[in-house]
Amino acid sequence: RKPMTLPRLAQMHASGEKIAMLTCYDAAFAGLLDEAGVDMLLIGDSLGNVLQGRGSTAPVNLDDMLYHTTCVRRGVKYAFVVADLPFDSYHVSKEEAWKSAAALVKAGAHMVKLEGGGWTAETVRFISERGIPVCAHLGFTPQTVTALGGFKVQGRDEESAARIKRESQELVEAGAAMLLYEMVPAALAAEITAASPVPVIGIGAGVGTSGQVLVLHDALDITRGKKPRFVKNFMAGQGSILGGVKAYVDEVKAKTFPINEIHGF
Ligand code: KIV
Ligand code: NA
Repeated sequence: RKPMTLPRLAQMHASGEKIAMLTCYDAAFAGLLDEAGVDMLLIGDSLGNVLQGRGSTAPVNLDDMLYHTTCVRRGVKYAFVVADLPFDSYHVSKEEAWKSAAALVKAGAHMVKLEGGGWTAETVRFISERGIPVCAHLGFTPQTVTALGGFKVQGRDEESAARIKRESQELVEAGAAMLLYEMVPAALAAEITAASPVPVIGIGAGVGTSGQVLVLHDALDITRGKKPRFVKNFMAGQGSILGGVKAYVDEVKAKTFPINEIHGF
């Protein structure tokens, strides 16, 4: 088995082989997820909720992201490592965004992810032209949950769907090497993926994307309380965490997860 690369991920997108991604925040889980065959690990700013017990991702600092990226990278042999640019680390200027992205790369990230639509295109261009691959996170964007008016599906009406399509195109033209959609209608995500030159990862975006991501602690049923409908407990019927993670990988690859009618919109 060879370490995952961007060309290999692009090839998987082109051939329809599904990409399995999970969030990961430490070296122990990184080693386990790697062994289970997870293609991509995301050091998500969801660590604000999952590890820090916060109500949103907005308070997460770049230093928090750097620490966890360092930890994850030490545990990885094969998986492709993506790290989130946290809130207020890429908003003021493209130069500031480059500095933040470069720090994440120095900490061990292969790619950085940022949230936002059209306004980030200039930033995506600046960072990717200088050699850091960028994933653009569209649809529901947790860093701006307040402005979005709550945890709402995006792209439901014609105007908002057209905007997501237009912004996706702008971001790819700006150099985004990957797109990620959170909580968008399955039909819209499938349509965009079919036409996309770059891999598309989905969470709450249906089975038609090039790959899936879930928050690790949701997939392993560690998270307490009410969970979003796109979450599934992969520990059910499993005797070990390795088994649970392998079940996730298997179901993503077999396209048996997600099921649009159950986990999608
Ligand atoms: O921070 C995170 O975990 C994420 C995923 C939900 C895509 O951005
Ligand atoms: Na995130």
